[in-house]
Amino acid sequence: MDLKQLKKQLSKDLNKASNSKDLQDLKIKYLGKKGRISLLSKDLGKLSQSERPKAGKAINLLKKFFEEQSQILSKEIEQQEINAILETESIDISLPVESEKLGNLHPITKTIDKICQYFISRGYSIEDGPEIESEYFNFDALNIPKDHPARDMHDTFYVDAEMLLRTHTSPVQIRSILKSKAPLKIICPGKVYRSDADQTHTPMFHQIEGLLIDEKVNFGNLKHELTEFLNYFFGKKLKVRFRPSYFPFTEPSAEVDIMDKKGWLEIMGCGMVHPNVLKEAGVDPKKYSGFAFGLGIERMTKLDYQMDDMRLLFENDLRLISQS
Ligand code: PHE
Repeated sequence: MDLKQLKKQLSKDLNKASNSKDLQDLKIKYLGKKGRISLLSKDLGKLSQSERPKAGKAINLLKKFFEEQSQILSKEIEQQEINAILETESIDISLPVESEKLGNLHPITKTIDKICQYFISRGYSIEDGPEIESEYFNFDALNIPKDHPARDMHDTFYVDAEMLLRTHTSPVQIRSILKSKAPLKIICPGKVYRSDADQTHTPMFHQIEGLLIDEKVNFGNLKHELTEFLNYFFGKKLKVRFRPSYFPFTEPSAEVDIMDKKGWLEIMGCGMVHPNVLKEAGVDPKKYSGFAFGLGIERMTKLDYQMDDMRLLFENDLRLISQS
């Protein structure tokens, strides 16, 4: 075949190619195993020795021409195809977007924050203590000796003979006095554990311990502090009652109840720090006195969110925990 004609044909074909598939087809048509140019190369053997170099060179030039042209074309086609995609897939940035779902603080965390903020504003500092606690801090130092019946009331989870999961945040009272001495004004939020589970009890729950030690602190101060706090927390003046109670580490002791829809609800224990506890922690009970309280966070949350069953707080139902 006349190479000139073939070149003409080839140029025509390239001109007609308008997408990458066309170009691919042309590559096969000319350079494939049985392609027009490939067959020419194969036929070189049929030529005489003197004709062969010239013909070979001409075929190579044609091949090169095709490769160069198709490369230029391929770039053009690629660009066109990109432009076409950009046009059809363009994004309208003025369209409203579906907002990202953000995480939420758990109602219990929010209650703890709300209570801590209040006491911080009243000059209390926040303390922390271990959840795996020694029997000494959880019981002995709090005036609850080994054979004391109050130990049974706590349904303790023991880790080994001496260590346990703290049953209340009161051990932090002792730890804080040992660390900071008197006078002192602290609160301690945290998890506590008791082997107990029903509608109003979960084996793990949260408390906030409060402790104030200074000269001439009396029960009136305690009553005032807690009443003010409860009014703040619920945003209104509530019916509050201080009911005489017993804790080995406070004397006198009281239970604080508030009036709920269903009647009186117990939300915290409190009292004047027992002189034995002060002595055990190295504070002179003749010089200093103090009050302490231990507040149940789940109960406060339950009231604040008007929930019936406390266990809901631990079921991770997004309808509850994404409420603000
Ligand atoms: N620790 C007590 C409880 O868990 C509550 C309490 C704390 C009582 C501080 C008096 C003073 O029941």
